Amino acid sequence: MCGIIGIVGTAPVQDRLLESLKRLEYRGYDSAGIAGVVDGRVQRRRAKGKIAALQAVLTDSPLTATVGIGHTRWATHGAPNEVNAHPQSAGRVTLVHNGIIENFAELKRKLQSSGRVFESETDTEVIAQLLDAELAAGCAPLVALKATLDQLTGAFAIAVLIEGQTDMILGARRGSPLVVGYGQGEMFLGSDALAVGPFTNRIAYLDEGDYVAIDHSSAQIFDKDGKPVERPLKIVSASAALVEKGNYRHFMEKEIHDQPDACQHTLSAYLDPVSGKATAPGGVDFSKVTRIQIIACGTAYYAGLISRYLFESLARLPVDIDVASEFRYREPPVIPGTLAIVISQSGETADTLAGLRWCKAQGLTTAAVVNVHESTMAREADVIFPTHAGPEIGVASTKAFTSQVAALSALAVAAAAARGHVDATEEARLTAVLLEASRLIAQSIQVEDAIKALAPDLAKARDVLYFGRGAMSALALEGALKLKEISYIHAEGYAAGELKHGPIALIDEATPVIVIAPSDHLFEKTMSNMSEVMARGGPIILFTDDEGAKHAPPGIKVIIAPTSDDIVAPLVFAAPIQLLAYYVAVQKGADVDQPRNLAKSVTVE
Ligand code: AGP
Repeated sequence: MCGIIGIVGTAPVQDRLLESLKRLEYRGYDSAGIAGVVDGRVQRRRAKGKIAALQAVLTDSPLTATVGIGHTRWATHGAPNEVNAHPQSAGRVTLVHNGIIENFAELKRKLQSSGRVFESETDTEVIAQLLDAELAAGCAPLVALKATLDQLTGAFAIAVLIEGQTDMILGARRGSPLVVGYGQGEMFLGSDALAVGPFTNRIAYLDEGDYVAIDHSSAQIFDKDGKPVERPLKIVSASAALVEKGNYRHFMEKEIHDQPDACQHTLSAYLDPVSGKATAPGGVDFSKVTRIQIIACGTAYYAGLISRYLFESLARLPVDIDVASEFRYREPPVIPGTLAIVISQSGETADTLAGLRWCKAQGLTTAAVVNVHESTMAREADVIFPTHAGPEIGVASTKAFTSQVAALSALAVAAAAARGHVDATEEARLTAVLLEASRLIAQSIQVEDAIKALAPDLAKARDVLYFGRGAMSALALEGALKLKEISYIHAEGYAAGELKHGPIALIDEATPVIVIAPSDHLFEKTMSNMSEVMARGGPIILFTDDEGAKHAPPGIKVIIAPTSDDIVAPLVFAAPIQLLAYYVAVQKGADVDQPRNLAKSVTVE
């Protein structure tokens, strides 16, 4: 959950390292630092807090290097302060690291008993100390690097400067992503395509266990066994333009408004408006699939929960779904014919990736619903089910979520057709309904002003409950996550029917309840649950459609979303729910795009 960058340049690198770190801030922003080779010596500049704090340090003390590395941190070991900020140094070695070294304590004890003195609490410093020890023993840099990597357990992506090796940066990856960027007489290392996007669109993705030495014009890549290898050069689309806020105050606001396009782009990969056919990419034959196992985290998990209703109701396919951090240790019995689907915006979430690898090891067919099509999950899954949301920078997932729901909804239709549960006419109708989603999402965003007006009151709440039925119960969970992660208000989501089994004890005049209830077959039931809340003085905000609003009791606040078919209702109600969280967070002056303690991509356990 950190971002790393390295540049072997011919021009000063300070500003370019900072530019890259700003693009990587979504991966973590507790502290930041850069290091560079100046007159043969490695100098560091570091600061607690965001990139702006580092910029202030550099204003006073610029770094005039043409070879350098940079890091923006999400703290795992050691408080977010300057001493623990990267780059970390030991002797001739200065490096930046994304990941967790699981055996760092044992290695640190051994190094300390050999007389080495540590300055930080980080696991990263252990890598620097080990590598410096190997160099001190007379090993050449690449030999020393390999010997160091062989001692590490855990996940890492690193970029390393070695004093005396002025025009070289070493790199390595295991469990955390790292790319090599090919420039004109300059070379780059970065956590992802976005990191090197301002400098080049020609990149090679390192594979698990690879390590590399880059100079001004080339990369020497070695696999985990030390064998020289080539990795394919790709032209990628992570252009600067794609990650600007435009006229919006926050990336999250922009990305909420991007959802009609994101949804349309995503559905175009699955649905043919002319033939009315829904097709699963990668040649997956759903007629041979006996069940689906969905594995994901956070918002992606909630997208999976929504899709379960459709796979089961439309395609009659049983679906098991679990959060990846539980699944990977639960090791469920393997049922032949299971299609394992991981869902991940980044394609790098450590727990989800571990779930994917477990399923592959069991011989299951694996598919990845991913937004980053060159990510580790995309490269390791048997099949990619792409979302086309474009880069999502806001830590709180919005357009990626609705794109995941859209992709999975289209797959449910494809599965239903392949398994003979819908005929061609019904398949064409469902395809047309899904292709309407983009317009309906755009329409649902029109309630923005009404939602903004709710924010001042809701921002005063200490606790907020969300509930709904059917797929809306999953959207209730997602709505609660959105509110808590950007406004820091405690929020919980429940299936409406569950309220009377305990949560209703929480209801009082100070606990707003958000009810998500389109006028579907469950509307009456949900209205009964809402009455139970009102009878206990709970203030209600009801999200419904025109028909539902006619039956809303007096005295409650009602937000009206467009009327839609059940299959697209989660897509239609998602944007208003996201906007509610957004405007409450803005009302509270929270850091919407980079909420405290969070990171966009959780690439460590
Ligand atoms: C969503 O708003 C959160 N930022 C978080 O729950 C996120 O969905 C989760 O970490 C999964 O990330 P992924 O989709 O990149 O795997």
